[in-house]
Amino acid sequence: MKVIALLGSPRENGNTELLLREVIRGVEESGLKVKVFRLNKMNIMPCQNCGGCEETGCCIYEDDMVQIYDAIRRAERIILASPIFFFGLSAQAKIMVDRCQAFWCEKYLLKKTIPEGQHGRRGLLLLVGGMRKEIGVQCAEATAKAFFRTISVPEHKTLAYMGVDAKGAILKHPSALQEAYKAGQQLINLISDKE
Ligand SMILES: Cc1cc2nc3c(=O)[nH]c(=O)nc-3n(C[C@H](O)[C@H](O)[C@H](O)COP(=O)(O)O)c2cc1C
Repeated sequence: MKVIALLGSPRENGNTELLLREVIRGVEESGLKVKVFRLNKMNIMPCQNCGGCEETGCCIYEDDMVQIYDAIRRAERIILASPIFFFGLSAQAKIMVDRCQAFWCEKYLLKKTIPEGQHGRRGLLLLVGGMRKEIGVQCAEATAKAFFRTISVPEHKTLAYMGVDAKGAILKHPSALQEAYKAGQQLINLISDKE
């Protein structure tokens, strides 16, 4: 089973990354490996809405997004991890999501979906915000849901932690790390939480 993580935080060893690490620990204790894409370090141009993907479902720009397109196509478990910035996903995450317009064209214009794979496709969304206002989670969740459905991930679970602001503050959260670890273990279960 191929598992990938798309990390949208620019802060190294920040709260989102620490949370993601626990998810990865939960996944990798099974012997599987998680391929992490650190979006902040990648050269990904924002979508230009050039229409270049409309007839083919393929983006015409060949930057680091090429690796992510390929990984998304092959993955059966996809983790999107982002801090909340201005009530939504981080720019790093959103730029990657927008470039998935190519998958949108493939799915909705060309009527093709990414094959399910042997184990089906499932997602996990990790969000960390410094404020307590839920609107940040709602906005980020709406974008992430559109992302997951576009890339033919029919269901995803969300873990969101608010009021976590200073670097490393997530380490003091009473339950976040344990919940993330458990979510990692559950993500690779063959039976979905909803069944
Ligand atoms: C540019 C910027 C915008 C932010 N906007 C919000 C926000 O709208 N809502 C919120 O809850 N926290 C906001 N925060 C706080 C971060 O979500 C918080 O510090 C989080 O723990 C960062 O996670 P990280 O350590 O993984 O980068 C913002 C932080 C930055 C730098």
